[in-house]
Amino acid sequence: MLDPDEITAGLRTKRVGSRVLVYDSTSSTNDAAAEYARNKQNDGLVIFAEQQTAGRGRAGNKWLSTRADSILCSIVLTENIPPTELLSLLCAVAVAEAVGISARIKWPNDIMLGGRKVAGILLESKPNGACIIGIGINCHQSKDSFAAELQPIATSIDIETNSVTDRISLARRLLTSIDHWLELAAESGEKVMDQWRNLSIQLGHRVRLIYSGRQFAGNCIGVDPEKGLILQLDTGGIRMFDAAHSTIAR
Ligand code: BTN
Repeated sequence: MLDPDEITAGLRTKRVGSRVLVYDSTSSTNDAAAEYARNKQNDGLVIFAEQQTAGRGRAGNKWLSTRADSILCSIVLTENIPPTELLSLLCAVAVAEAVGISARIKWPNDIMLGGRKVAGILLESKPNGACIIGIGINCHQSKDSFAAELQPIATSIDIETNSVTDRISLARRLLTSIDHWLELAAESGEKVMDQWRNLSIQLGHRVRLIYSGRQFAGNCIGVDPEKGLILQLDTGGIRMFDAAHSTIAR
């Protein structure tokens, strides 16, 4: 792993991106960020990489990407961290807004374009209370870049816009957006929830969900900033499902 370059201008925002490090290649930006998260002074530090050799997704999945095709980054938060569910919601809102066009949120952390996944978010908490927000956004992939089994469910911004994404502008929008939503969430979760409702694919629809290995089905009637997705279950009753233990079934 080569030493990262430190970007001192251009990408900076107030809190998120107060320092920005860019690796040519690293195992996972979340791993690199975890080292920095040991020191409280690194709040707001962002790590980017052109390539990951062991990128991770949720639920133990791999996050694969070829060199320079994506935004791969991790944000270190060491203080003033919103409650986990609210943080998860605000990250999804912020990434969807940065991707723009018609990006929508598939709960909890998938960002969808044209019905396919374009970005994912991996939140990891550390024993010292720090949190790492790992974000992968597919930019320059063509359909053939994805493995055959992913082609029906994955996409990139280039594919959906039929143009070449400006990754620097996207990175800038992303950091500004996360910064903005962290600030709003510090005041109240209401605005985050409102925007989540606007962008959610699931709200008002029937959802099949796997929670800690068990299947549940019901109508999605909302989201709670502390307890997660709210379903009116087919079997009767209302139940809430936190983001960390649940996945929407295909
Ligand atoms: C998911 O949808 O499963 C989450 C994917 C998160 C991928 C990003 S890429 C940058 C950061 N480093 C990682 O190893 N994972 C996250």
